[in-house]
Amino acid sequence: MSPTLPALPAVVTGAAILLSLFPLATAAGCECGYMLKQTSTFFTHKMHTDFSEIPDTTDVNAALPDWQVQAWAFDTDSSTGVMARKNEAENVWIKGGKLHLRQKGHKKDDRAPVSVAEVHSKRTDFHHGSFRAKYKVTVDKKADGGTVAGFFFYYDDEDETDIEILTKDGDKTIRYTQHPAYDNVTDSTIPDTTFQMQVKKPWSTMQEHRFDWTPAKTTFFQDNSAVKEMTKNVPKHEGKVMINLWANNGTWSGLPSTKDVKMEMEYIMIYFNTSASQSGNDTGFNSACEAAGGPENNTICWVNDKSGTDSEDSKVTFSASSSSPAYILQSLVLVAGAGLAVLFLVWA
Ligand SMILES: *[C@@H]1O[C@H](CO)[C@@H](O)[C@H](O)[C@H]1NC(C)=O
Ligand SMILES: *[C@@H]1O[C@H](CO)[C@@H](O)[C@H](O)[C@H]1NC(C)=O
Ligand SMILES: *[C@@H]1O[C@H](CO)[C@@H](O)[C@H](O)[C@H]1NC(C)=O
Ligand SMILES: *[C@@H]1O[C@H](CO)[C@@H](O)[C@H](O)[C@H]1NC(C)=O
Ligand SMILES: *[C@@H]1O[C@H](CO)[C@@H](O)[C@H](O)[C@H]1NC(C)=O
Repeated sequence: MSPTLPALPAVVTGAAILLSLFPLATAAGCECGYMLKQTSTFFTHKMHTDFSEIPDTTDVNAALPDWQVQAWAFDTDSSTGVMARKNEAENVWIKGGKLHLRQKGHKKDDRAPVSVAEVHSKRTDFHHGSFRAKYKVTVDKKADGGTVAGFFFYYDDEDETDIEILTKDGDKTIRYTQHPAYDNVTDSTIPDTTFQMQVKKPWSTMQEHRFDWTPAKTTFFQDNSAVKEMTKNVPKHEGKVMINLWANNGTWSGLPSTKDVKMEMEYIMIYFNTSASQSGNDTGFNSACEAAGGPENNTICWVNDKSGTDSEDSKVTFSASSSSPAYILQSLVLVAGAGLAVLFLVWA
């Protein structure tokens, strides 16, 4: 025991006083939401599903609290040649740190429903957000027919934003659509509602697909680069997020692929407002933010979109003020506090 150390109660009291002078130093961060640096857009919530953290499983519902694997069917419409299709849980699994979706290879003359995959968010109150998923789609070159891989927002058929890969398009084409996109009276596409974009990176390689829905517009991104902006049919209602892989011999998908098609996903990252937080009425959010000290740079997380394809938020940063005296003082207090704690352990 060093004779120069103060008595234990003095150490504890001193540390407690120092810490209470700087309560922000102990805040966990992000209580007051997320600011996207790239677009200066603010959202209150985050939902992150990182498949790399999840052990291999075929019981995906048990492994993913935020998502629900779908198991139901669409009927055939023989007047149009649209085939029946069936969402089956066996077409969704987690392996090697990725979520897998499959359209089972479907023989040309097989009249059975096409076996496909679909997953929905359990939340149905997304109301504006930045929706991101990193995935690739793999088709067998020898397959006939095609599949649609969708990552989208859905309220109803007239309030929906889609990122879709139509495998028949070729692997540098992506479709962006906001519904309604089709006028059934004039039997034509509604202008400015659906776009077939040529992108740099083929969808057969891992990449982040993203759409940012704000009140005035929706912006579509590939690996953090804006590809397309849409102002027509921007969704108005709260809704859910869906992922699917499907084909039904309709005009969009064409005949289902005769060989398995796979969609493999590394993560889903969503920064969003709920319908309650959008209107400022999310009492849970409001009180947590207030308890953390209100909106400040260490209770709002600044999302650094430009650091590559990984959209992880930057956690608590003091970036703007990191050289300010307050920050330095705060750091010193933490270092001193840790030092005292170590001394206490040694002493005890
Ligand atoms: C697929 O659709 C076409 C019409 O577009 C139809 O002639 C054909 O019979 C359909 N195929 C099947 C297997 O239903
Ligand atoms: C045409 O679209 C409208 C609006 O979506 C819908 O109510 C109607 O049922 C559709 N009609 C046909 C023939 O599909
Ligand atoms: C999200 O909600 C917050 C809190 O109500 C609001 O300040 C912000 O503008 C909303 N974001 C968008 C993109 O509307
Ligand atoms: C939510 O807040 C708005 C004002 O921002 C208010 O008009 C509305 O009544 C509130 N709704 C509820 C359910 O509290
Ligand atoms: C908070 O951090 C952001 C990004 O680093 C910076 O632009 C902003 O000026 C900071 N605000 C304050 C009040 O320090």
